[in-house]
Amino acid sequence: MANHKTRLAAFCSGTGSNFRSLYHAINERGFPAEFTLCLSNRSECGAIAFAGQHGIPTVHLSEKQYDTHRAFAAAMLKSLEEHGVEYILLAGYLRKVPEAVVNAYSFRILNIHPALLPEFGGPGMYGINVHKAVLEAGRKETGATVHYVDPEYDKGPVLLQRKVPVEPGDTPESLAARVLKCEHRLYPDALEKLLTDREI
Ligand code: GAR
Repeated sequence: MANHKTRLAAFCSGTGSNFRSLYHAINERGFPAEFTLCLSNRSECGAIAFAGQHGIPTVHLSEKQYDTHRAFAAAMLKSLEEHGVEYILLAGYLRKVPEAVVNAYSFRILNIHPALLPEFGGPGMYGINVHKAVLEAGRKETGATVHYVDPEYDKGPVLLQRKVPVEPGDTPESLAARVLKCEHRLYPDALEKLLTDREI
C-alpha cells in the first residue's frame, strides 16, 4: 500500500496550537499521514475552529452527554471507527482517555506533556500548573515529552523528549511560552519517528 496515508485523530480541549503545528508539518514535510478527525470535549475551541477551516471532520464528545462511562467510551470508539482512525494524537486534551479506548489503541495513542516526564506528571499536572510546579521546585531545566498513552496517567513509555532551560526571572507564563515553542517542533518529530519506526 505505497500510497496509504496513516489516518490520524487529534484530541484537543483548547487552543490547538500543537494540532496546528502537526497539521502544517504533515503538509510541509510530506509525511504519509492525514487527520481524518478532530475530537474535543468542548463544542467550541481553537482546535475545532481550525479543523473546520481545513475540512477536517470534527466531533464534540463529552462524558456529560452520556449516562454511563461505558456508553461514553463506546461512542468514542464508534467515532474513531467511522473515521477510520489508526493513531490518536492527544494535543492539549485535558481529559483522561477511557481505558476501553486505550486498550483498543494500544501503542497507537501519543500524548504531549509540557515537562520532562516522569517528573511533573500525573493528575492535576496540566498546562500552567506544570510550569508553576517546575518553578516552585527551583529547577534550572524543564522540557517537553511525547509518550505513548497507557492506562496510567502520564506514565506510558517515552517516544521523544527535549530539554528547555529555565531562565532567571521566568514566570509560569514565560516558561510555558518557551516550552510550547519546543513542543511545536517536538511533536512533528515524534510523529515522524512513529511513522518511520513502524515501517521498519
Ligand atoms: C500544551 O502545552 C500541552 O503540552 C499541554 O497543554 C497545552 C495545550 O496547548 N498538555 C498538557 O498539559 C497535558 N497534560 P495547545 O492546545 O495550544 O496545543
